[in-house]
Amino acid sequence: MPAKLNLALCVGPLADDGYHPLTTIFQAVSLHDELIAQPAAPGEISVAMSGEGTDSVAVDDSNLAVRAARLLADSYGDERFGVRLTVKKSIPVAGGMAGGSADAAAALLACSVLWDLDIDPEELREYGAQLGSDVPFALMGGTAIGTGRGDKLVPVLSRGSHHWVLAFADTGLSTPAVYRHFDQLQPDGCDLEMPTELINALATGDSEELARHLRNDLAAAAIDLQPSLQATIDAGLECGALAAIVSGSGPTVAFLCRNEEAAVALSVALSAEDVARAVRRVVGPVAGARLLSGGCPGVRAARRTRRPGVRLAGRSQDSRRQDAGLG
Ligand code: C5P
Repeated sequence: MPAKLNLALCVGPLADDGYHPLTTIFQAVSLHDELIAQPAAPGEISVAMSGEGTDSVAVDDSNLAVRAARLLADSYGDERFGVRLTVKKSIPVAGGMAGGSADAAAALLACSVLWDLDIDPEELREYGAQLGSDVPFALMGGTAIGTGRGDKLVPVLSRGSHHWVLAFADTGLSTPAVYRHFDQLQPDGCDLEMPTELINALATGDSEELARHLRNDLAAAAIDLQPSLQATIDAGLECGALAAIVSGSGPTVAFLCRNEEAAVALSVALSAEDVARAVRRVVGPVAGARLLSGGCPGVRAARRTRRPGVRLAGRSQDSRRQDAGLG
């Protein structure tokens, strides 16, 4: 399942529900976590994590992948459900690239296949929205406009591929802390107008045009909380990037490059600058969470339907089979 960038992140004023209304353009990029779901004893839902930054990730019931599995198990109410999840992380933890959301998306998809649930993609996205604002997009992938909390999605035409260089920071940033600081800097929020020029630029596939219209209203708050980000941004721009954006709530910085050659040159130059913990080259857009292999000998009998009485707001009754995927 892929990481995301927000090519535009327009943030309105804090609402009564504790969230900010957004108009955002997501793009999924070629930096992936991998998740394996194996059958486990009835009632057992567990996760083991390895890779990028996992020392700081709890593997108890608060883990987003565990919460995703439990949400499905509880909703479908079959006590025979159990799953052992293994996550190999490459997406930075607390990096503003929706790594936790990607793992939750993969767990939803994996468990729906393992447990042979009668669930369609739209319904899966509705479960995802209960787990986090970015989870529906991690399932969907590609390029999309997000409104509401970022969970209401419409696909956007994006021609060609864009080449990005990512600079990972030494320490993460807490998303709620960045939003709180945004509230102090911008108590009235920013405008939520649809970024039409950016959408038009995506349709042309022209990276130089796209570079002119990137926007992130959380950037000032993220840089205030982690001032070293400014040096990272400056270094990337001096080394030839078309544009720099803080990714989501940060602290990962994404540099847009003219083409693959320019991205290779920038990643080499940035690595020598010592302004980032690590530098990675990615392209976008890429697909959302996908199944890499199947044939799980899980709890298979009749296709499972949701427990009576457990309802999702506004869900469709369509029972088309989810063709699931992770990776
Ligand atoms: O939805 P998610 O759990 O990912 O959000 C994490 C935190 O980010 C929320 O608790 C909230 O503080 C902040 N947030 C927000 N407005 C949004 C999305 C997230 O204020 N649209």
